[in-house]
Amino acid sequence: METVKVNASKKYDVIIGGNTALLLAEKVKELFGDVAVCVVTDDTVASYHLDKIKACLNENHIKNDAFVFPHGESSKSPEVLFELLEFLAKKHFSRKDVLVALGGGVTGDLTGLAAAMYMRGMHLVQIPTTLLAMVDSSVGGKTAVNLKAGKNLAGVFNQPELVLCDTNMLSTLPAEYFADGMAEVIKYGVIADRELFEVVKNGHIEENLETIIARCVAIKRDVVNEDEFDTGKRQLLNFGHTLAHSIEKESGFEISHGSAVAMGMVIISEIAWQNGISKERCQDEIIDALLENNLPISCPYKNSELYYAAENDKKSASGRISIIVPEEIGTCKIMNIALAEFKELLK
Ligand SMILES: NC(=O)c1ccc[n+]([C@@H]2O[C@H](COP(=O)([O-])OP(=O)(O)OC[C@H]3O[C@@H](n4cnc5c(N)ncnc54)[C@H](O)[C@@H]3O)[C@@H](O)[C@H]2O)c1
Repeated sequence: METVKVNASKKYDVIIGGNTALLLAEKVKELFGDVAVCVVTDDTVASYHLDKIKACLNENHIKNDAFVFPHGESSKSPEVLFELLEFLAKKHFSRKDVLVALGGGVTGDLTGLAAAMYMRGMHLVQIPTTLLAMVDSSVGGKTAVNLKAGKNLAGVFNQPELVLCDTNMLSTLPAEYFADGMAEVIKYGVIADRELFEVVKNGHIEENLETIIARCVAIKRDVVNEDEFDTGKRQLLNFGHTLAHSIEKESGFEISHGSAVAMGMVIISEIAWQNGISKERCQDEIIDALLENNLPISCPYKNSELYYAAENDKKSASGRISIIVPEEIGTCKIMNIALAEFKELLK
């Protein structure tokens, strides 16, 4: 079992290992005292993991209830958010009680926002059940729901007070979702840690899973500690993501986020090398790491198509765009450039 300590606007522990979800009852009592718990989860995760969480709370005489919603990105909506808030009110939860997000990034983002809003803020614990949520979305405090106008447009920063990454829960996760999470793990290696990158490139995942997750969480923690509200260094976490957003958009969201990040990392590292930004040719090693982890390496769209999708993105409304480029494996830099320059680079 490993513990990573986060010291952002809230201090909290991220506890990583097999069966750590079963620490929930003990930790709730220790951190919050005599409170009630509402577990928020989607129907798929509920079918595998809700019973044991409820049993753990019941055995410890903690009053609890569960809000279960249909799985999928479409549930990350204002409608489901307000259904959850109404549920909490109907069941007489108070602001001293605890919301537990049991699920992937969709559950974490939705629950984190509800926890910030209900009675102006109740306690929040994250139990991520996808690899992506363990290494990325459960830590760092970004919460949101999607609007019709775009993804993640309504949200707040709200750090959890505890994160329990139970690696046993990954045993039920379908392989394609595991691969999506590995794209983020490879990203962490490229931006901050050659040693982590080597482990992942060589396929030593299963036997090092706990350490890999802990290392990713520690890298995210370090970046978030320096730039919690995403005005500078936090952008490093977007390596591969600028183009990934365009790829996802071009595909009508048929290409998964992880696959799009994989393609985005390959394209941006090739651009960085060809334009003399990188000190070494990182692209070949990134491709090896992606192939080893069942991720795609080639993109079905032309760079010009990706440019137009990026140009229409709200984030580039100022006529500039931030791209994250590798200098070498383990070190990346943020370049804020004019859209015209970005267009040139993509040629
Ligand atoms: N807040 C952040 O910092 C942040 C960062 C990255 C991504 N995100 C968000 O995260 C979301 C994507 O996260 P995700 O990929 O975890 O999606 P998700 O929550 O939809 O989970 C993917 C699928 O896996 C299923 N699932 C989850 N855990 C399982 C398990 N242990 N066993 C079996 N099935 C399981 C879910 O039911 C779902 O169908 C996006 O909405 C994205 O915007 C947020």
